[in-house]
Amino acid sequence: MSKKMKGIILAGGSATRLRPCTKVTSKQLLPVYNKPMIYYPLNTLIKAGIKDILIIVSPERAGDFLNLLGSGKEFGVNFTYEIQDTPRGLADAFIVGENFIGSDNVAMILGDNIFEDDLYESIENFEKGGMVFAKKVSDPERFGVVKFDKNMKAEKVVEKPKEWISDYALVGLYVFDNRVVKVAKEVEPSERGEIEITDLQNFYLQKGELEVAMINGAWLDAGTFDSLLEAQILAKEKLQDKMVI
Ligand code: DAU
Repeated sequence: MSKKMKGIILAGGSATRLRPCTKVTSKQLLPVYNKPMIYYPLNTLIKAGIKDILIIVSPERAGDFLNLLGSGKEFGVNFTYEIQDTPRGLADAFIVGENFIGSDNVAMILGDNIFEDDLYESIENFEKGGMVFAKKVSDPERFGVVKFDKNMKAEKVVEKPKEWISDYALVGLYVFDNRVVKVAKEVEPSERGEIEITDLQNFYLQKGELEVAMINGAWLDAGTFDSLLEAQILAKEKLQDKMVI
């Protein structure tokens, strides 16, 4: 029998790019049209059939998330909360989440990423290794990117490359088997002092175990004022009938 899939929403960080709006609240609690931002990634996990979800928050905002989301009963799922003391990097989600993950597989989604696609099938069919999702963008320098060879096989993954290597951004949804916890603990901080998600992706890539699936529908990282505005419009025009929460 294949392993259970657990979910993590990474919703910590200090969101300095959205000051002053994030001075007294968290980015992931800001409204995106008619719902708090975190509802969108939560909706993606719930629609993928995930029942146990860990929400990782910063110490300053933990109470606000708890007030908003509660136990999960209202949404038909179970929430667990963990505090990330400092924003050490995306890979830290798998260290902070170690007890929660236990011996299961895990799908981690960023609390500011908004998807139009239903990703049920990809997540449901996952068995082992790593699975990430790519989308062609016009501003790849803002993201982790994946370079493909001429057969569209993933060659390498680089975080915010200074020199252009690819137009394919890696979106903020990562599905890994249980090895990820151990691998995350071994990652060294990068030049910017973070433990990078790209190091985890490269671990699986080097083993030939990283699957890269394409995102067909709209996708946004709502972490800047312009992308937040775009997200509001996307939510109003295209996402209303996709929400189950
Ligand atoms: O949106 C997709 C991109 O997300 C990927 O293409 C990149 O590879 C990935 O590094 C990430 O880039 P960002 O520049 O958007 O990362 P940021 O530092 O803004 O963090 C993303 C979210 O995760 C943000 O909502 C805050 C939260 N976060 C971040 C860090 C570093 C945490 O909760 N804890 C952390 O330690």
